[in-house]
Amino acid sequence: MAELDHWHPVLLSHELRRKPRSVRLAGREIVVFRTSSGGLGAFTDRCPHRSMRLSEGWVEGDRLVCAYHGWRWAADGRGDIPATPAARPCARRDDVFDAVERYGAIWVKRAGAQATFPRFDAEGYVPAGVLRHRAAVPFELALDNFIEVEHTPFVHFMLGYSLDQMPQVEAQVTLSDDAVQVVNTGPKRPIPRIVEKMFRIPHDAKFVVEWTARFSPVHAIYDHSFINPRTREVVTYPLRSAVFFNPVGPESSEIYTFLFASLGRWSEFGLGSLIWPPLRVAMDLELRLDMRLLSRLADKRGILKGNVLGRFDKALVASRDRIDRIYRGQAAEATPEAGDGHEATRAARRLPLAAS
Ligand code: FES
Ligand SMILES: [Fe+2]
Repeated sequence: MAELDHWHPVLLSHELRRKPRSVRLAGREIVVFRTSSGGLGAFTDRCPHRSMRLSEGWVEGDRLVCAYHGWRWAADGRGDIPATPAARPCARRDDVFDAVERYGAIWVKRAGAQATFPRFDAEGYVPAGVLRHRAAVPFELALDNFIEVEHTPFVHFMLGYSLDQMPQVEAQVTLSDDAVQVVNTGPKRPIPRIVEKMFRIPHDAKFVVEWTARFSPVHAIYDHSFINPRTREVVTYPLRSAVFFNPVGPESSEIYTFLFASLGRWSEFGLGSLIWPPLRVAMDLELRLDMRLLSRLADKRGILKGNVLGRFDKALVASRDRIDRIYRGQAAEATPEAGDGHEATRAARRLPLAAS
């Protein structure tokens, strides 16, 4: 499988109205449109006839009409030609995409590709909004940033841990064939007493940040909880996020963050609608800080080779292997030998020693 064979979110639902929209994914321009009956269609944004941008056209009934000679294309890639009514042109299979609308976004994958739609909701949680951010780096570097907590004291005011307690944070990595799971546990950051009271978080609680990264497409699902160190009671933070990392161009990516809220007792009091908007704004701000940071990287090639890694970077190396194998459908790189320059991989393997 290659990148375009996986389901990716490419537009927020409200961005697609009557006018077809062009999006960029993995270097490909794709036009997405709504048919008059509410269906969705997507093609490579180039008319099969003579290469007009289909996003310059318009929708008539269930067809996307090309602005150049008026050829009309149905979502399955079959067309008709006003000037030659008996003709039945057909788009190349590679240029036709399946499109669906879920969780407030429009998703596409290449037609006929076998990828299943990613599962990222959870029982008891309801969708609470989608955020999108653009990063001026390849998606691998954005993912790197999202799967380690070492940067959080320097970049974030709410996420992660504070610097003085960072040495006490444990990062436990569990690898499986298709996933990388990390559980970080450490003293929680100072938070206002009123928030502790609201969410019944003990003042001396341990904070657990847990995520699982999967690779069809590349995304990570985050859950947070607090543990009472005396009773071991767990308070689940009522926000879950699922973050999708889209390749756009060689030095650009898009990050879609789907938020889910577990309203619990807050909905009983009718307070859910008051709490989530500010949380969403805070999350948006936190992610913008990551984007700003990423734009300042000196090396934007998206590779780990040559980096000297630390104990929080083990998941990065494991993710690269799965990106190659699952997301790009390429054989994973052979285990590097000494002297071949793969310092990053070797450093990650040494992590248990390096961390001690
Ligand atoms: S280029 Fe689209 S109809 Fe001719
Ligand atoms: Fe971050």
